[in-house]
Amino acid sequence: MVTGGAGYIGSHVVKALGDKGYDILVYDNLSSGRAKAVVCGKLVEGDLGDRAALEKTVREFRPDAVMHFAAHIQVNESMSKPLKYYRNNTSNAFTLLETLAENGVDNFIFSSTAAVYGIPDITPVVETAPLSPINPYGASKMFVELALKELYGLEKINYIALRYFNVAGADPEGMIGQNYKDATHLITRALKTAKGEFDKLKIFGTDYDTKDGTCIRDYIHVSDLAQAHILAMERLLKNREGAVYNLGYGKGYSVREVVDMTRRVTGIDFVTEETRRREGDPAELVADSSKIREALEWIPKYNDLRFIIETAWNWEKKL
Ligand code: UFG
Repeated sequence: MVTGGAGYIGSHVVKALGDKGYDILVYDNLSSGRAKAVVCGKLVEGDLGDRAALEKTVREFRPDAVMHFAAHIQVNESMSKPLKYYRNNTSNAFTLLETLAENGVDNFIFSSTAAVYGIPDITPVVETAPLSPINPYGASKMFVELALKELYGLEKINYIALRYFNVAGADPEGMIGQNYKDATHLITRALKTAKGEFDKLKIFGTDYDTKDGTCIRDYIHVSDLAQAHILAMERLLKNREGAVYNLGYGKGYSVREVVDMTRRVTGIDFVTEETRRREGDPAELVADSSKIREALEWIPKYNDLRFIIETAWNWEKKL
């Protein structure tokens, strides 16, 4: 069972699960996801806050494992609407966990985020770094992680929380990709600017203590991320585990570097404007992912910023 399986990351994981022959049920309220992004399995339109609908779905489908993607994802929005994030990302996750416990479902894969680290003292960041989110988005995910750890200690759940760094790119076969009305993520925003949907791309902050003054992020291709979810699920189906893994490539790119690569890939010299910092942004977030490489034998295939942007551009051109 995949909550949020009609969204950007969820739909890529659903496709990867389908490619491996798994029986899939997607539970999604379609608030930001799209029915046609669900390329395999069955879609049930429902909200996580609707306990009765959720319960009925769990009872009927009887999942062996649940992957929980459904969430709000915009760091900036969370700064001005914290309760929206705590309600959907934290409170609704607890409703889901209660419903699963009541129905004997105990394998849970959780979409967490590098935002739980806040401003890390040491980069690349390892999983044992302190959790100290600087925005409600990161905090809303951290609370779920804390609950999972406690439930695992009580032997009530098996779980793997995957802390994503900056997920980008699109299905290399071109079937699916990111498709949000108000995309705020850098690569999507840059591509939409190249396409002419926006006049210019704003560069938020050029006075960070980084090599070129702009923020540094670790961009990971969504299909590599999807494979990690399958490895995580297969591990839980075999072993009892309560674990947290970072997911990134361990290499950071600045906003300016991403802009340059986007210009090269698209061949379009779109306009940028340097503006003040965006609230809630740490200067640098780069993953140390050696733990998942070793423990789950995750071997990324698309560790290449150009390929990430090319696949996203191929998709964006179809929208
Ligand atoms: N940026 C711009 N202009 C834009 C959009 C973004 O300059 O139009 C900058 C941001 O300020 C930031 C960088 O590009 O410095 C990346 O921003 P994104 O919005 O693409 O992504 P975030 O780093 O804010 O957040 C993402 C995920 C989070 C995750 C985080 C961890 O959305 O879930 O990566 O690295 F926690």
